[in-house]
Amino acid sequence: MSGDRSALQVVEGKSLGRLAVDDLAARVAAAARVVVDVGTGDARAAWRLARAEPDTLVIGLDPAWQRMADTATRSRRKPAKGGAPNLVLVNAAVEAAPPALDGVADAVTVLMPWGGLLWGVVTAGPDVCGGLRRLARPGAPLEVVIGTSIWRPPVPVELANLPELTPAALAPGGELAARWAAAGWAVDEAAVTTSVDDGAPATSWARRLGSTAPESLLIVRAHAV
Ligand SMILES: C[S@@+](CC[C@H](N)C(=O)[O-])C[C@H]1O[C@@H](n2cnc3c(N)ncnc32)[C@H](O)[C@@H]1O
Repeated sequence: MSGDRSALQVVEGKSLGRLAVDDLAARVAAAARVVVDVGTGDARAAWRLARAEPDTLVIGLDPAWQRMADTATRSRRKPAKGGAPNLVLVNAAVEAAPPALDGVADAVTVLMPWGGLLWGVVTAGPDVCGGLRRLARPGAPLEVVIGTSIWRPPVPVELANLPELTPAALAPGGELAARWAAAGWAVDEAAVTTSVDDGAPATSWARRLGSTAPESLLIVRAHAV
C-alpha cells in the first residue's frame, strides 16, 4: 500500500488502514488550521493538541506506527471519552512523507527527535529538512525541541559522532543556518531552556527525560520561506 498514491497509510488502532487522498484534502480544507507533528512517537502530545483545538486538524507522522496504536484507539472513541476525530496518525518517515501532505501544514513540530530525524535536524540534512519543508505552507512556523542531555555522558553509542547543536551554531550567517535556508527554512531563534512550560510542549519523551533531573531543552524556531 505504501506505493499507493491515492491513499495514505494511517493508524487505526492495532492495524494500518488507508485514508483516501481526497478525504484528507477535504479535512484539510475544512480545518481552521493544520498542524503536523513529525516523529510523533506515542502521539500523546498530538492527541492533547487535537483535544484542545477541535477545529485544528492534527496530523502525527512517524514510521514506527505501532507506537501510535494506543492513541489511535483512544482517538476513535466518542469525544466525551477521550476521542479526537481531528487527529490523523500517518505511518511514514518525513523523508518519504506521502505527497498528499505537501503544503498542508500551517505549523510543523519536531519534539524530542531521535534516529534519522534527530541526525537530520541537528546537521540540517537536506532529506529531513527538505521533507519538513514539503509539509509546510509558505510562512508556516517550525518548532524543533531537543533534549540536550543526548550530548552529555553517557552518550549513546549511536550518537557518539553527532555534533552538538547550540544556539551559536545556528547563528545567522553560519553554515547551519545556510543549510536550513537551502532547504527553505529561515531560522528565527534558537535558545536553551530548562522549563517545559517555556513554549515547549510536555511530550511523553520530555517527561521521561525530565523525571530524574530537569532536562535542558534546545528550542529552534524557523519559518518556511
Ligand atoms: C524520542 S521519540 C519522541 C516521540 C515524541 N515526539 C515525544 O516527544 O514523546 C522520537 C521519534 O522520532 C521518530 N523518527 C525517527 N526518525 C524519523 C523520521 N525520519 N521521520 C519521522 N519520524 C522519525 C521515531 O520513530 C520516534 O518515534
